[in-house]
This record gives sequence, C-alpha cells and structure tokens, in this order.
Amino acid sequence: MRVLILGVNGFIGSNLSEKILTETDWQIDAMDLSSDKLKNCLTHPRFNFVAGDITLQKDWITERIQNCDVVLPLVAIATPATYVQNPLRVFELDFEANLDIIRQCVRFGRRIIFPSTSEVYGMCTDQEFDEETSHLVTGPINKERWIYSTSKQLLDRVIYAYGKHHNLNYTLFRPFNWYGPRLDNIFNSKPGGSRVLSQFIGNILRGENIMLVDGGEQKRCFTYIEDGISALMKMIENKNNCAERNIFNVGNPHENISIRELAELLIQLIKNYPEHHAAATRTQLVNVDAAEYYGAGYQDVTSRVPSVSRAKKYLDWQPMVNIKNGLQETLKFYLETE
Ligand code: UGA
Repeated sequence: MRVLILGVNGFIGSNLSEKILTETDWQIDAMDLSSDKLKNCLTHPRFNFVAGDITLQKDWITERIQNCDVVLPLVAIATPATYVQNPLRVFELDFEANLDIIRQCVRFGRRIIFPSTSEVYGMCTDQEFDEETSHLVTGPINKERWIYSTSKQLLDRVIYAYGKHHNLNYTLFRPFNWYGPRLDNIFNSKPGGSRVLSQFIGNILRGENIMLVDGGEQKRCFTYIEDGISALMKMIENKNNCAERNIFNVGNPHENISIRELAELLIQLIKNYPEHHAAATRTQLVNVDAAEYYGAGYQDVTSRVPSVSRAKKYLDWQPMVNIKNGLQETLKFYLETE
C-alpha cells in the first residue's frame, strides 16, 4: 500500500506516520512546511518526505496522487481563536486548498480519507451526534467561529456528491477533541493560541492562571490519539471495503467532561511532578467572558457527544483509553521527553 499524507507534520499526521512505519509495510509519501514532529520517521526507508507548501508544490502533489493508493489531506487550521481572528485564512487553507486535492482524487480515481470534524455538528442539541440523522447547527454570519465548521461541512457535502455521482471512493472521519503527544506547542503562551489541553498544560507549567471561558461548564469528549489512530488504520486498511463511502465519528463518549474538570484534573496530575509542584499550586481557575477571551465573533458548543455505533459496526472500533491514562501519557511526553 502506498499512502500519501499531506500535512504530515501535524498532530494527526505525525502520530499516524509513526504507527504505519512501525506496524505495517506500507510506503508513505508526505509533505509539510516543516518536520519538527517527525524525528522518528525522517530517516526511515519507507518514509519519503518533501518539505513544501501544498498550495505551491502542485506538480509534486499531482504526480504523487497518481502514484498512490490512498490520499489523506490533513492540512488545516484547527484552533478556534484563528477562526475568529483570521477567518479568510481558514477558508483559503481548509476549504480552497483541500478542494483542489479532492478534485484530483476524483480525476485520477484515487481513494481519499478526509478529516471532517466534530465541529460540523455545531450547536446540535442531540444527546449523541449521529452521522446520518443529526442536524448540523451553526450560528449567524457575525459569529465568525463557524467558518471552520461550515467550510468542513461543505467539503463533506462535495465529497459525498463526488462519491454518489462520480464514483469517488471516500471515507470521512470526524475527530472529537483528539489529544495526546504532539498536540500543540505548549510554550505558545498566546491566549487561545492552541487547543484547550495544550493551553492549560502551558498555563500550569508557567504558574499562570487558567482562563475558564464562560465558567468552563461546557463539555467535550476527549479522545486519546492512540484510539483515533487505530480507527484511522482500519479506514486505510479498508478490510472488505468496510470504510468505503462512509462517515465516522471518532470520539470517546465515555469521557465526557467539563473544561473545568479538565483543568482540575491537569493541576492535580502536574502536582505529582516535584519540579512543577510549586507552579501548579500557584495556578488558579479564573472565569472569563467568551467575547473578552476570543472576541465577539466567538460562540461555544456546550455539549458534544459522538455516537460511535457506526465505527463499531463497520470498523469494529471502539475507544479504549480513559482520560486519566491518556492525560498521564500526554504529560509524560510534554514533561519528560520534550
Ligand atoms: C475544537 C477545534 O475546533 C478543533 O481542533 C477540532 O475540530 C474540534 O474541536 C475537535 O477536536 O473536535 P473546541 O473543542 O471548541 O474546538 O476547541 P478547544 O480550543 O479545544 O476548546 C475547548 C473548550 O475549552 C472551549 O469551550 C473553549 O472555550 C474552552 N477554553 C479554551 C477555555 O475555557 N480556556 C482556554 O484557555 C481555552
């Protein structure tokens, strides 16, 4: 199998590449702007990495698409602060750049495994979000946060239509707050500069206060990267075409915790490291208004629980890692190896 991964130096791409190289005989062609998360892959004989920009190196991409079995276009901005501060950049990269790749998969008859997102469900009020029946609910245009959700939603619809009317062989996967080693840079101290987990770890290590947006009662189903990657491996493997023309939520419905609980758990776990105990003791939880923290274009999701019955049925997959173990492994990576 020959796999093309665009955006390989990201959180998902780097973890997926390591898994492929250690557990299969598959070949990886890969591109990203930089390679700092790929230390364990770069010298591997089955890892062919090219440093480049997917919006510029079009000839290389076209040639690689023609020569691979499956394409994973993972290039995207995925931090909510950027949706509000630079919405057009999100549209250009997440939507426009990826549309070009999708069309090439149609043109050359290549299989595509595309990252949709839990964000497409938006403020849906279903207890559990279902890929086939849940409504996708976003806010008004002046709530710019939704440009990411709607860009991804339109790509989902385009891919689905190419599948139905032009035989595109696709799989859409929707990560629900995946976390783990190599998520974001914890030393990026800009508020909102990374996703919540890496933001909080950085805050605690610096002994700063944690900002709980609107009190932190909103909940997320945090999903450990190892579980996410094992679902992706099954999609790539595609045994008996199980992943073909299918959409999968990939999340952990058993670990539905509030952002406040996440902050408390992290402080408690980091206090176990003697060298960080003093900083973690200094950190206080402080409530902040969403508009003040992110700007007026922000709107939040209060509950986001996936149904994972499709993933169970078609991929024989279910999440295995509980939040405490997942956070401990994540902290081990950030505090013991970085
Ligand atoms: C994320 C991002 O949009 C994407 O990474 C992704 O597509 C999706 O969810 C996912 O992984 O499923 P969200 O969960 O809202 O969206 O983003 P986070 O930045 O991780 O924030 C989670 C919650 O923590 C939000 O309610 C946010 O307001 C809150 N938060 C964040 C704080 O209370 N304090 C902070 O300092 C940062």
